Amino acid sequence: MAPSLVEATTTTGSTTAELRTYKLQAGQYKELDGHSIDYDVETGRKGGRGAKYPHYLPTWDREQHYPPLEPFEHYEHGRDADPAFPNLLPKGTEVTDLTPFIGSEVKGIQLSSLSDEAKDELALFVAQRKVVAFRRQDFADLPISDVLRYGAYFGRHHIHPTSGAPEGFPEIHLVHRGETDTGAQEYFKTRTSSVAWHSDVSYEQQPPGTTFLYILDKPTTGGDTLFVDSVQAYKRLSPLFQERLHGLRATHSGIEQVNAAAAAASIKRREPVVNDHPLIRTHPATGEKAIFVNDQFTRSIVGLKQEESDALLKFLYDHLAYGADFQVRVKWEEGTVVVWDNRVTQHSAIVDWENGQRRHLARMTPQAERPYETAFERS
Ligand SMILES: [Fe+2]
Repeated sequence: MAPSLVEATTTTGSTTAELRTYKLQAGQYKELDGHSIDYDVETGRKGGRGAKYPHYLPTWDREQHYPPLEPFEHYEHGRDADPAFPNLLPKGTEVTDLTPFIGSEVKGIQLSSLSDEAKDELALFVAQRKVVAFRRQDFADLPISDVLRYGAYFGRHHIHPTSGAPEGFPEIHLVHRGETDTGAQEYFKTRTSSVAWHSDVSYEQQPPGTTFLYILDKPTTGGDTLFVDSVQAYKRLSPLFQERLHGLRATHSGIEQVNAAAAAASIKRREPVVNDHPLIRTHPATGEKAIFVNDQFTRSIVGLKQEESDALLKFLYDHLAYGADFQVRVKWEEGTVVVWDNRVTQHSAIVDWENGQRRHLARMTPQAERPYETAFERS
C-alpha cells in the first residue's frame, strides 16, 4: 500500500474520515501511465524510429501550478443542432454504425473545417452515437494552437493535474508509450489485464463532455480503445432497480491520481479535488439517462455504509465491464480522430502489444456542465 503523499484537498460534501480512506487507496489509478520518457529514443537520436510528431512529445513542467478550477457556465451546443445533421454529414459522407447502440465510423469530412452549425451537429451526433471515429483527419498536422481554438467551441479546456503535455500546451493531455518501453511486461508480472474502465477526470465538479483523442503514432496492431454505452447499461436495468439508483450520489476522487504521480516524482499542477455527482445523470442534449460511476475515480455512495456501497458499486462496475453487447472496440488508423461524449460512456485503453512499438495520442478535453439528474421515468 502506497503512503499518503497528498495532504491538501478541496472537497465537496466529504468528511475528513472519508478523505482518510481515499488516501489509503493511492496507486490504483492507471499504473501503466508513464511519468517520463527517454527523449533520445523518442526523437530518434539513438538511431531508432523517432516520434512522427516530436513537438507532441510529453513534457512535465514543474513550474506549472494552477489555482482550483472555478465553476463556469457550460453552453451545450448539441441543443442547437439540426438532428438531420445536414452540415456535419452532407451527401456523400460515409457513415458506418459499428454496433447498433454505440460507435460510428465517418469518412469523407474534415473536422477541422466544420462550420459552427456543423460543430453543433457534431456535439449532438456524438452524444447520440456515444463515440465516433473520424478517419483521415488533419488535426495532428495543424498547429496545436489551431486545434485548441477549435476545441474551445465545445467548452473550457481541462488542464490535467498530472499528465504529460506538449511543451507550452498544458491543455493537451498526452497518452504516450515510448519505443522499446517494457513497462507493460513488468505490469503483467503481477496483473492479469490492462483493462481499466473509467470516464475521464470524473472527480471534477464539471467533468468533460465532447472529448477528442487523435492518433500521432501507433503500433502496427494493438492498442485499440474500448468504449461502453452507459445509457444502454442504464436501460438494461429493471425499472425497480433504476428507480432505486435515482437520488443517490457518489463521491469521485482525484487524490489517488495525484498521489500516483507524486510516488513517481512527477508533477502536480493543481491540488486534487473530491466531488460528488448523481449516480444517474441526464444528458442535456439528448435527455438520456446514464450510469455515472467508474472504478477509477468513484469511491463511495453517499449515505450508505461501506459494505453496502462497495457491493452496489461492484455490481455497477461489473455490469458495465461485462456488457460486451453494449460496447464497441475502436481501432486506430493513421489520421483517426475519435470523439466521444464522456458523460454517457466509459472507456479503457488496451495494452496488448509486446513488440515495443510507440503509441502516442493527444486528447483535448472540453469540460461540460455539472452533472445533474432528472426524475425517474418508467419506460
Ligand atoms: Fe481516459
